[in-house]
Amino acid sequence: MAWVLKFFVSSVGRKLLMAGTGLCFVLFLTTHLAGNLLLYRGGDVFNAYAARLHSLGPLLTIFELGLLALALVHVVFGLWLFYENDRARPVKYAVKKSGGGQTWGSATMPYTGVLMLAFVIYHLIRFHFVDKTNIPIYEIVKAAFQNSFEVALYVAAMGVVALHVSHGFWSAFQTLGAHHTKYTPIIKAAGLIFSMVVGIGFGFIPIYMRLL
Ligand code: HEM
Repeated sequence: MAWVLKFFVSSVGRKLLMAGTGLCFVLFLTTHLAGNLLLYRGGDVFNAYAARLHSLGPLLTIFELGLLALALVHVVFGLWLFYENDRARPVKYAVKKSGGGQTWGSATMPYTGVLMLAFVIYHLIRFHFVDKTNIPIYEIVKAAFQNSFEVALYVAAMGVVALHVSHGFWSAFQTLGAHHTKYTPIIKAAGLIFSMVVGIGFGFIPIYMRLL
């Protein structure tokens, strides 16, 4: 048992945990986006979908606790890796180098990560931990997006999510050992496409709801 713990706090183990939990979030974002696209079909369809989800009862609670555990691991280990990398860098750069394969996504990973965490906490307070006994969830979402500031906030947050995912997707496969002259460009392209689908797919929902 001790060796398992030792492995997961080693540098390689921590990177593997980041990759594994990150890929779980890729799956979560895919299913969450698919569910949210039902907002385009109106209140009856979306509320029926939400009711079906909530009828899962304890299964849904287990899923939510699992998500929370994954988020804790991803955030704590991500910040730990960032802190160690920062300390290991002998000279703090006066000028950021743009070469060496660094992209906007990779250079901003810790910052977009922290911003996403702040967004998710705000988002859960707004839509999850809200009293839904008298108002159906579709009406709650629609009312929230009647406020242009809220729409702008969500659109900006989706840009941050897309930037984080654009690097995270490829980086996770890289950590899991997917280096190959043939497959690396395909994984990079898939990451870019996925991040665009997430950014545009989620980002257009508040705008559409505002225009209703
Ligand atoms: C326009 C974008 C989004 C909309 C309209 C939206 C909508 C919602 C709604 C309505 C719920 C509550 C479901 C319920 O309790 O019945 C929810 C839950 C949640 N959302 Fe979002 N969401 C969006 C983007 C995101 C993003 C980008 C993330 C993650 C980065 C995210 C993470 C979550 C989480 C973790 C939950 C709780 C899930 C659960 O309890 O099963 N959402 N979202």
